[in-house]
Amino acid sequence: MDIISAEKILKTVKNPSFYNIKVFDETVSTSTLLKELAKNGAPEGTVVIAERQTGGRGRLGRSFFSPFGTGIYMSFLVRPQITLADSAKITALAAVSVCEAIKDVTGIATGIKWVNDVYKAGKKISGILTEAVLSDDNISPKFISVGIGINVYQSDMPKEIADIATSLFTENPKEIRNELIARILDIFYGYYTSEIAVSSEKKSFVEKYREYSVVTGKQIKVIRGFESFEATAIGIGEDCSLLVRLANGDTLYLSSGEITIRPLDGKGFGFEKN
Ligand code: BTN
Repeated sequence: MDIISAEKILKTVKNPSFYNIKVFDETVSTSTLLKELAKNGAPEGTVVIAERQTGGRGRLGRSFFSPFGTGIYMSFLVRPQITLADSAKITALAAVSVCEAIKDVTGIATGIKWVNDVYKAGKKISGILTEAVLSDDNISPKFISVGIGINVYQSDMPKEIADIATSLFTENPKEIRNELIARILDIFYGYYTSEIAVSSEKKSFVEKYREYSVVTGKQIKVIRGFESFEATAIGIGEDCSLLVRLANGDTLYLSSGEITIRPLDGKGFGFEKN
C-alpha cells in the first residue's frame, strides 16, 4: 500500500534539514492549514500533506476532488521578497516543478495549460492554487501558500469531471507518491532559491514553462468576468503572462488574475509530445 510518509520523503529530498513536513490522514484543505501555520510564524520549507481533503479548493472558488489515498494534496510555504505582481511566477514555477517531477519519476509526458493546470493527453491531472497574504505595505506578499493537487491513481472520476480530468495512472502500479512529492519539492525550492528568492535576472524556469505550454499557438477563448473574446495564444512573457493576438491584429499580455481560457476547437489542450 502506497502510504505518504514524512520519513520517506525526507530520506529522498536533497536537503532534509530545510523541511518541516506534516502528513495528515484527513484535513479540510492543506492550504487552509498551511496558512494558519504561516500566520503563526512557520518558516519556508513548511509542508502540509493530506491523504484526503474534505474541502479541497481550486481557483475561482472551485472545489478540488480529493479522495483518500489516490492523489497528492499538498501545500508548502514561501516568503519571497517580490511584488504581488511577480507572484504569478510562483504558480508558473510550481507547474514546471510538477511536469519535471512527473517526467523524472514516471517518464510520463505532461504539459501546462496556462496558467496553473497540468495536462496529460488532453485532460487535467493536476491543479495549482497559490494564495498570497499581503504585508502591511499592501504591495508585497508576507507569505505565499503553494497548493498542488495531483490525481495519481484515481480509477473513478466523478461523472461531472470525467470529460475534462484524468489521472496519471488508472491503477496503483507501484509506490510513487513519496518519491514524486520529494522530487517536486527539490525542483521547486531549487529554482526558487536560485531564481526568485535572490531576485536574480536569470530565469531558466520561464524557458521551461514555455517548453511545457500546451496553449501557445492555439486559438483560444478568453473569459474575463462577464466579457469573453477570441484570440490566438502566441507566447509567454518573462513574467509568465500570456501573450495573445486579437482578431484585429493587436497583441495583449494577459496576467493570470481572474481569467479563464478555453480551446476554440473544442478538442481540449492536448499536446503531441512523446
Ligand atoms: C485548481 O485546479 O484550480 C487548483 C487546485 C489546487 C488543489 C490543491 S490540493 C492541495 C491544496 N489544498 C487545497 O485546498 N487546494 C490545493
